[in-house]
Amino acid sequence: MEFIKKIFNKKEASIKWFKVFDTILEAEKNMQINKPITVLIEEEKICFSRTQQGFFAVADACPHLGASLSKGVCNNFMEVVCPWHSYRFDLKTGAENTGNQANMYVKTFPTKVEKTGIYIGLEK
Ligand code: FES
Repeated sequence: MEFIKKIFNKKEASIKWFKVFDTILEAEKNMQINKPITVLIEEEKICFSRTQQGFFAVADACPHLGASLSKGVCNNFMEVVCPWHSYRFDLKTGAENTGNQANMYVKTFPTKVEKTGIYIGLEK
């Protein structure tokens, strides 16, 4: 009798994926390295970045005073820099790295690159 172990990733199952681009080539044509774009998914405004380390998505509103982070730039330390007061947010964790505001985070969203496209995940 064959034993089959089923593994169910609850976290993955609770994410709904939205395609942003069909291919990496399309993303490269439409996105400069380290210059985020705004992506609107349902009611969520997202700052979507293409960096040397891959694609990252964070909430577009800066947690300091609400500036649009997609109007900022990314640096080579995998941070997005707010255009208003230059606070820097880690693209992976969302943590504010400038040290100006302790415990300030911007919300992060998962991204994935597959043969079928480039996706941003939102919790269901
Ligand atoms: S609004 Fe972003 S750092 Fe002030």
